[in-house]
Amino acid sequence: MIRGGRRTNPPLEIQRRAIAVSGGKGGVGKSTIALNLAVAYAQAGSRTLMVDTDLGMADLNLLLGVAPERSLLDALGGTPIEDILVAAHGIHLLPALNGSYLLSTIGPAAQAQILEMVKSLATRFDALVIDIAAGIGQTQTAFAGAPTDAIVVVNPEPLSMADAYASLKVLSMEQGVRHAFLVPNRVTSRAQATEVVSRLQALVDRFLDLELTPLPPIPSDPAVAEAAQIGVPLLVHCPDAPAARAIRQLTRALATLAPTTADASWWRSTTRAQGVSP
Ligand SMILES: Nc1ncnc2c1ncn2[C@@H]1O[C@H](COP(=O)(O)OP(=O)(O)O)[C@@H](O)[C@H]1O
Ligand SMILES: [Mg+2]
Repeated sequence: MIRGGRRTNPPLEIQRRAIAVSGGKGGVGKSTIALNLAVAYAQAGSRTLMVDTDLGMADLNLLLGVAPERSLLDALGGTPIEDILVAAHGIHLLPALNGSYLLSTIGPAAQAQILEMVKSLATRFDALVIDIAAGIGQTQTAFAGAPTDAIVVVNPEPLSMADAYASLKVLSMEQGVRHAFLVPNRVTSRAQATEVVSRLQALVDRFLDLELTPLPPIPSDPAVAEAAQIGVPLLVHCPDAPAARAIRQLTRALATLAPTTADASWWRSTTRAQGVSP
């Protein structure tokens, strides 16, 4: 629901969706887009869970303006996972830690344990948004391999496009993903977004067995940094900013597209009626 602004589109309905947002290097806007997508779902009435998988360099808590007392590290130590959830702006966050060497260096077994905890917790929510850490290493792919839809964020710079291609390649070749969504972020014109999409599309068509569906682009907008600075999600701080409008448009576009995950049975088999209140 858009408050205090002109509503140009019908409100979004409750979404049942599991999405992982990734995209090569840090700084392309993964956390910004993941967080605001989650807020858009919450504003539409979905019970929404967010997971920060940037285990040692978490930033979602900062963007959300919360200071969690516990993190996924406590969950690994035996604290019930629902006890580490923090709620703000209508979403529930499973927080990681800032500057935690320990959490950033947990092995594959612990990562698999976290993934299982997330999957079982997620069945109590309508929507799940996972913020995938930068890079294409083992930690990243462990979480990107969760049975969710994949959104890859790209910036117009050539290096970002190369990183996005690397991410798509890993999703396709290592994770068996057959269909991914692409979001051009920080674009300065529609033409620039179209150019980014068509260049990546050409590479993907040529080298990967992957269907790529572009989503509406997000413009470069100073309101994004402003919102981050004060720790309030853009959609709440500045709902009429161009980037906020674009993120709502992206959310609506996504809602019209079928989920891409073949292995989404763990998620879609649970109905809202079966869900327990988080
Ligand atoms: N559309 C945008 N317009 C302007 N600045 C942006 C935009 N998207 C992201 N940023 C800025 O880019 C930086 C990185 O964003 P972030 O979401 O933290 O990226 P990531 O999670 O990929 O590292 C932040 O300073 C953020 O404010
Ligand atoms: Mg991030």
